[in-house]
Amino acid sequence: MNQHLLTICYLIGSITFILGLKMLSNPASARKGNLLAAGGMSIAIFGTIFLFSYDENGTTHYLGNYIWIFAALIIGAIVGTLAAKKVQMTAMPEMVSLFNGMGGACAALISIVEFNHLSKELDATPPAEIIQKIQEVQPTVLIIVLGLIIGSVSFAGSMIAWGKLNGKVKDFSFTGQNILNMVVLAAALGLAVYMIFNPQQHMLLYAILGLSLFYGIFFVMPIGGADMPVVISLLNSFTGVAAACGGFLYDNKVMLTGGILVGAAGTLLTILMCKAMNRSLKNVLIGSFGGNKKGVAGVAGAQGEHKEISLSDAAMVMSYANKVLIVPGYGLAVAQAQHTCHELEKILTEKGVEVKYAIHPVAGRMPGHMNVLLAEADVSYDILMEMEQANDEFPTTDVVLILGANDVVNPAAKSDPASPIYGMPILDVEQAKTVIVNKRSMKPGYAGIENDLFFRPKTSMLFGDAKKVLQDLCTEIKNA
Ligand code: TAP
Repeated sequence: MNQHLLTICYLIGSITFILGLKMLSNPASARKGNLLAAGGMSIAIFGTIFLFSYDENGTTHYLGNYIWIFAALIIGAIVGTLAAKKVQMTAMPEMVSLFNGMGGACAALISIVEFNHLSKELDATPPAEIIQKIQEVQPTVLIIVLGLIIGSVSFAGSMIAWGKLNGKVKDFSFTGQNILNMVVLAAALGLAVYMIFNPQQHMLLYAILGLSLFYGIFFVMPIGGADMPVVISLLNSFTGVAAACGGFLYDNKVMLTGGILVGAAGTLLTILMCKAMNRSLKNVLIGSFGGNKKGVAGVAGAQGEHKEISLSDAAMVMSYANKVLIVPGYGLAVAQAQHTCHELEKILTEKGVEVKYAIHPVAGRMPGHMNVLLAEADVSYDILMEMEQANDEFPTTDVVLILGANDVVNPAAKSDPASPIYGMPILDVEQAKTVIVNKRSMKPGYAGIENDLFFRPKTSMLFGDAKKVLQDLCTEIKNA
């Protein structure tokens, strides 16, 4: 009876996970989707804690260890809730990487624990039966070593990514590092294969663990800090696969489904991010874009004179416009200016101006960054436009207000084959009548390259911190 109930719990967990993922693809349903998936997974977890049982020597055993389990659950829930409440949107990739690292560590620990169980069984097997026993356990050893390698690479890599994002770990590389990395990975895989045929060699497991941790650290070390979101998404997919290995080991359907979905989602996200930046994964992993700017093609000097616009002129141009499109970027997120931006949008709308937002798929530093940020400020989803839709609207737009965005509006992506962002789809802001760019200086953005847009005749620069500039614009327009 309990076993049937548990199967139902797992079914609920799996279905809600799939539905939740689907709902996450739309900002309007994302919050509910998250809750639904979390709710379903809670049912699966509590089902496992109270309903899971196994028979040994004719006696039914339950999980037990309730004090340990609940103490860990409570501590984890408190730490997780506090961290999630405290985190700034710009530090979200950092937090994702920390959580992801924990997932990888869990998968690696599962492998170690399960291998210890297996070792005891092997030790207790009479010599005459050992060959048959080894053949029997080989598929399990395969899953154990896979989970161990993938989980520990994900754990070590995520910890380095976390350190890089919060500035504690600096980029580090040396000549021949990629080759050394390949050798270390090959050694870990080679030992893993050896172990599948010689599972009695217990200590080899720890050698594989050490090599995998080394690989995880040194594979992420040279990658530029700004490329970390792509790396984190890739490591996320590793954790998913490692968790799926755990699902195989325990014959646990919900762990298997969850792991596979996380693995697939992480892989798809990595591919989408690379596509939206027009870069190959290889270029992200062994290129220097976003990290060491030396050698990045297209880092040009100043392209001529830029012109500035005063706050009052910018306020006037927008107040008298029929249609204003706002382009939010990383700078808006850093300045935490989303609420003030919404305020400006409301003031302009009250004046009869049509205001919408143009969202580039990689604006900011993580997927969906701008959507989440604007949703936090209660901006209506109806006025958020994706890139293709926005590009259709620019020709009929009077004013484009760019707030701390740079690469995603850089025309070099279309016109300069030597540019590192050549081929990246961009927001065609130049199609509008007037372009106002707010940033603090003429410094480049993430890609480290000059932006010709800032020197074009239609463009005016409005320098200053995005939040302060938006506050001043609101005051000017209100008083106009
Ligand atoms: P960026 O190209 O990085 O430009 C942001 C601009 O904001 C900077 O030029 C900076 O100029 C300005 N800024 C910084 N702080 C500011 C503040 N307080 N107030 C006003 N402006 C401020 O950003 P983007 O256009 O959003 O492009 C995103 C980039 O990140 C792309 O190259 C993309 O490929 C990359 N990336 C994105 C993702 C995802 S999924 N979102 C993942 C990995 C990489 P000043 O210093 O002069 O102010």
